[in-house]
Amino acid sequence: MRSLLAQTLFLLLIGLGMSGLSAAPPAEDSKGKDINGVCAACHGEFGQGGKRGEYPRVAGQRAAYLKDQLKSFRARKRINIPMYPYTQERELPDEDIEAVSDYLAAIELPTKWPEFKDSDDALTRLEAMEKVMIVPRAEGDIENGKAIYQKGCASCHARDGRGRGKFPMLIGQYTLYLKKQTDSYLKGERPHDEEGVTGILNTLKEKDIQDILAYLTSIQNSEKQ
Ligand code: HEC
Ligand code: HEC
Repeated sequence: MRSLLAQTLFLLLIGLGMSGLSAAPPAEDSKGKDINGVCAACHGEFGQGGKRGEYPRVAGQRAAYLKDQLKSFRARKRINIPMYPYTQERELPDEDIEAVSDYLAAIELPTKWPEFKDSDDALTRLEAMEKVMIVPRAEGDIENGKAIYQKGCASCHARDGRGRGKFPMLIGQYTLYLKKQTDSYLKGERPHDEEGVTGILNTLKEKDIQDILAYLTSIQNSEKQ
C-alpha cells in the first residue's frame, strides 16, 4: 500500500517536472547523449563525421562494431592518436562505451533532402539539413565494384552494405575514410578480419578497391533490406 502511494507520488513529481506530456527519455539514452558531447567536437553533433572524412561518420553504425572499436582504441590495438585522451580507462569505462555506442547506433541520418512544412521554423530546418548524409559519388567502375563487392565482401558487410552483427556498415561512410582504412589494412597496421594480412583485400588490385568504393557510394540510398 505504502509503496503504491510512494510510486504515485513519484510519478506525480516526474509529471510536474516535465514540460509536456511526452515520456522522459530512458536514462541510458541521456547518458549516451551526454557522453557524445565530447565526441561531437570531432564527429559532429549527430555523429555525422566531419572534415570530409578525417573524422568518420559514427551515427547509424552497428552498435556491436562501435563497442569493439572503442575497446580496441582503449587497448591501443587500433591506433588512433586523436582519440587517446577520450578512450582511457577512467575516461571511458565499459558502461560508457555501451551507452554511447547504443546512442550513436540509433541515430538515423537521412540520405535525402527533407521537405519542409510552412510551419517549420529556421532552427528545425537547419537541424534537419545538418543531419542529411550524402557521400559524394566516388570515381570508378561501378559494375566491376559491384561484382567484386557482392562476391567478396557481402558475406560479412551484407548485400546492401549495411553490415550485420559486428561487421561494420560501409555505405554512407566517407570515401576518404574508407580508403584510409583499406590502406592501413593492406599495410598490416589494422587487422581486417581473422585472416590478417592474407585476407580478401590483399587479393585485389588497387583499381578494384577504388571500384568497390565507387559502388558503395552508388548504393547509399538503397532501402533497408
Ligand atoms: C579529437 C577528435 C576526436 C574525438 C574527440 C573523438 N574521436 Fe572518434 N575518431 C577520431 C578520428 C580521427 C577517427 C578515425 C581514426 C582513423 O582514421 O582510423 C575516429 C574514429 C572513431 C571510431 C571508428 C569508426 C569506424 O568506422 O571504425 C569510433 C567508433 C569513434 N571514433 C567513436 C568516438 C566516440 C564514441 C567518441 C567520444 C567518446 C570519439 N570518437 C571522440 C577523432 C575523434
Ligand atoms: C570475413 C568477413 C569479412 C569480409 C569477407 C570482408 N570484411 Fe571488411 N571488415 C570485417 C571486419 C570484422 C571488420 C572490422 C575489423 C576491425 O575490427 O578492425 C571490417 C572492416 C572493414 C572496413 C573498415 C570500416 C570502418 O568503418 O572502419 C572496410 C573499409 C572494409 N572492411 C572493407 C571490406 C571490403 C572492401 C571487403 C571485400 C573486398 C571486405 N571488407 C570483406 C570483415 C570482413
